[in-house]
Amino acid sequence: MKVTVFGIGYVGLVQAAVLAEVGHEVLCIDVDAKKVENLKNGQIPIFEPGLTPLVKQNYESGRLKFSIDAEEGVAHAQVQFIAVGTPPEEDGSADLKYVTAVARTIAQYMTSPKIVIDKSTVPVGTADKVRQVMGQTLQQRGIKLSFDVISNPEFLKEGAAVADCMRPERIVIGTDNPDAIEPIRELYEPFNRNHDRMIVMDIRSAELTKYAANCMLATKISFMNEMSNLAELLGADIEKVRQGIGSDSRIGYHFIYPGCGYGGSCFPKDVQALIRTSEQIGYQPKLLQAVEQVNAQQKYKLPTFVERHFGKNLAGKTFALWGLSFKPNTDDMREASSRVLMEQLWAAGAKIKAYDPEAMNETQRIYGHRSDLELMGTKEAALQGADALVICTEWQNFRAPDFDLMKSSLKSPVIFDGRNLFDPDRLEKRGFTYYGIGRGA
Ligand code: UGA
Repeated sequence: MKVTVFGIGYVGLVQAAVLAEVGHEVLCIDVDAKKVENLKNGQIPIFEPGLTPLVKQNYESGRLKFSIDAEEGVAHAQVQFIAVGTPPEEDGSADLKYVTAVARTIAQYMTSPKIVIDKSTVPVGTADKVRQVMGQTLQQRGIKLSFDVISNPEFLKEGAAVADCMRPERIVIGTDNPDAIEPIRELYEPFNRNHDRMIVMDIRSAELTKYAANCMLATKISFMNEMSNLAELLGADIEKVRQGIGSDSRIGYHFIYPGCGYGGSCFPKDVQALIRTSEQIGYQPKLLQAVEQVNAQQKYKLPTFVERHFGKNLAGKTFALWGLSFKPNTDDMREASSRVLMEQLWAAGAKIKAYDPEAMNETQRIYGHRSDLELMGTKEAALQGADALVICTEWQNFRAPDFDLMKSSLKSPVIFDGRNLFDPDRLEKRGFTYYGIGRGA
């Protein structure tokens, strides 16, 4: 099948590459000419395991193409994906200007019926807006052409995006026209073998499903972070509690890891957007507000520990920081806990020697101007001469460090661990002072 994807961001690029991989002819359109040129030269704008070879192979085979020519994109296929960004507005609501711009473009150039698929995370009611914008544009052109608007939210995780797209747990399709489903079934058929993962519903339910999923996951995390704060005060160990409750199959082990707060481009933005949507319709979403507040507070956990240990004034102190990305296997630092930590430590006068396996360029881009930040080539180099170590991201290769080397490199053997990577008893035996999340016992 032929497919056009508008927007070569995270979602658009991964989806396009995966669709091309199974044999579809995919044309990606973006307004960013440099990005399009880079992709043609095999330069992928994001770090995502498995994505670079997938894009290169499919580009070379001719099944995956990139262009800035929107008219060509509209002409290419009946199925048109909208996968552009929906950045938050000042008040946290999702800004739909890119989505509606693509809708207008499609209606501007279409000369045959289209199926327009909303892949971007968009508030409930967006499909109606897309339909309205397209209808108006066609009316202005003075022509009558049929089109369907479908909501098909994406559930991929950064760091596992290719695998998630290749083997989706569910394919949610929101439509009010049963006739539009058949082409979508054909499109997703290679990903829908063995058992049917397609869940068909009305458009508004599909749009809300996306927010409900992310808000549920964010709620689990904030719940655990709240429990971790209680555990700390009550002298319990949240890691024991986590195992204790996870063994209940109704609760499960997934997404109940306490830490120094969730980040990324999705949870913070989506929780806020659903809060704004609720408020706009006169509903106070008390639970979601609490989820957001607990998370914002949790990002100050590590700076609070540092203050507890070293005092308010950190002038003359240097901290080794391991982990800058908002989670492992990505270079994404959007809403990362490491940023709150660094900004708090800097404000108290400290210097930072930072290391991350993938996010060094991103750190350089955001904080390269700061003289109180040194970017280090290895995790060991970051430790040299630092007063203590702070860990913000659970990269696998942080899990079994050389503790003797760590002890001899640091001025004082103190670890502030925002991801509970180590066993507090073992570290204590090795002579470390260890601060974990919710480990009061
Ligand atoms: C999230 C969802 O997991 C995806 O299903 C969804 O498609 C995506 O948002 C999206 O809307 O596009 P992602 O933002 O890539 O994916 O990251 P997650 O793996 O969900 O992690 C989010 C944050 O939660 C990270 O900062 C992570 O460290 C934190 N987290 C996760 C915890 O603190 N504890 C946990 O138990 C799990």
